Amino acid sequence: MHQSTDTRPQPRSASRSGPLAGEITVPGDKSISHRALLFGALATGVTKITGLLEAEDVLNTAKAVEHMGARVYEEGGTWSVTGCGVGGLSAPDAPLDFGNSGTGVRLMMGALAGHDFKAELIGDASLSRRPMGRVLNPLMQMGLEVMPQGADRLPLTIRGATAPLPMRYELPVPSAQVKSAVLLAGLHAPGVTTVVEREPTRDHTERMLRYFGAQIDVTTAGDATEISIVGEAELTGKPVDVPADPSSAAFLVAAAVITEGSDVTIKNVLLNPTRTGFYKTLQDMGADVIFENERSAGGEPVGDIRARSSRLKGVEVPASRAPSMIDEYPVLACVAAFATGTTTMLGLAELKVKESDRLAATSAGLTANGISNAIEGDTLKVHGSRDERPAGGGIVETHMDHRIAMAFLTLGLGSQAPVTVDDTRVIATSFPSFVDLMEGLGANLSATPANAGTKNPTSDNKGPGA
Ligand code: S3P
Repeated sequence: MHQSTDTRPQPRSASRSGPLAGEITVPGDKSISHRALLFGALATGVTKITGLLEAEDVLNTAKAVEHMGARVYEEGGTWSVTGCGVGGLSAPDAPLDFGNSGTGVRLMMGALAGHDFKAELIGDASLSRRPMGRVLNPLMQMGLEVMPQGADRLPLTIRGATAPLPMRYELPVPSAQVKSAVLLAGLHAPGVTTVVEREPTRDHTERMLRYFGAQIDVTTAGDATEISIVGEAELTGKPVDVPADPSSAAFLVAAAVITEGSDVTIKNVLLNPTRTGFYKTLQDMGADVIFENERSAGGEPVGDIRARSSRLKGVEVPASRAPSMIDEYPVLACVAAFATGTTTMLGLAELKVKESDRLAATSAGLTANGISNAIEGDTLKVHGSRDERPAGGGIVETHMDHRIAMAFLTLGLGSQAPVTVDDTRVIATSFPSFVDLMEGLGANLSATPANAGTKNPTSDNKGPGA
């Protein structure tokens, strides 16, 4: 398994590009890839996975389940996981390293809540800054022990219970990771575990656990959705064909929309409605973005996305849409710089606890490139102008956040002067082929920083993550 070993920052610049054109695919969905490996490890029999995202975050989940007894191997692009059955993992003989991945570690905490052994969980500097209490609190109520007591950040050690207590849990934050962790703990519990969510978050865990044979009931009353799992379940390995990741496709779609004369089609993309808020927002802005060839594959809606360059107008993005586009705000903010008028994005509190404080990092990156913007509480406002392209010319601090790096490289394809991102190594966590695919469509991306040595306009404007 390839992991990047280079310890030096790798800056890159993006400059104004001609029409982008082509029909391509992007790598597999990250959320579904993590789940296929983890649920495969908890199932009996073999789970064969095609289209798995072969990126650092997902490969760390593969390594973690291997350390606990699952067999994982790849042949000709198909990954096979021979699982251990629910509750059948064995104690790891070394710390489990999740690198940059919140999804990997938080879902694993839920799965390990049903295993009575100690596991030390570690991650990189970004992951070690992120809150884990949101997952550990409900899991502790179900019987998980956390060492040191009260720990909310990695590194930490957990010890699960053979039979965690079933529980009813109302999500205090709209998070699919928290929902998934509680449901995974509930898989092992004697009784029914229910998660209540007020805002729908991505539902891949529910769909895939049901597909693997768990009894999952979903009911909606008013604004509350209740997801129940019957515990002491048995999972059976099944084939999983992972569709392309809409969160990765978002950068290419954005690039097509902001560069003149572009026409790009991305094939076989996951179009689950809990993930398509970004595309809906682009359409609201007047973007020529359409879904074609919509169909169902492996229990998930998929289709092709065609994006052409468009004249855009600023819109208000309601807070209720945030969970369905939570990873796309940095790139939406960059697109908004090309729209006429102000784009107002409401309800962004969760952005502050991603791989970086994405609210601050996005705002700082925009400012560095001469784009007027403001953070007001949990709201981000971007003041755009289609007639006068964003200035660009800035150096953007990535803060170990892959989506900040890709969003601002996308910005540079349409801005007047090149945009430089200080370090692109972290892109390998989710989208290792990003640069190659962009260049294949006609994007100008250079490993030699265009504006190295020039003063960064935001050097006085460091976000909290700085
Ligand atoms: C994910 C859930 C989201 C998202 C992350 C992937 C998942 O995080 O940001 O990239 O696969 O469940 P939250 O659950 O913290 O919102």
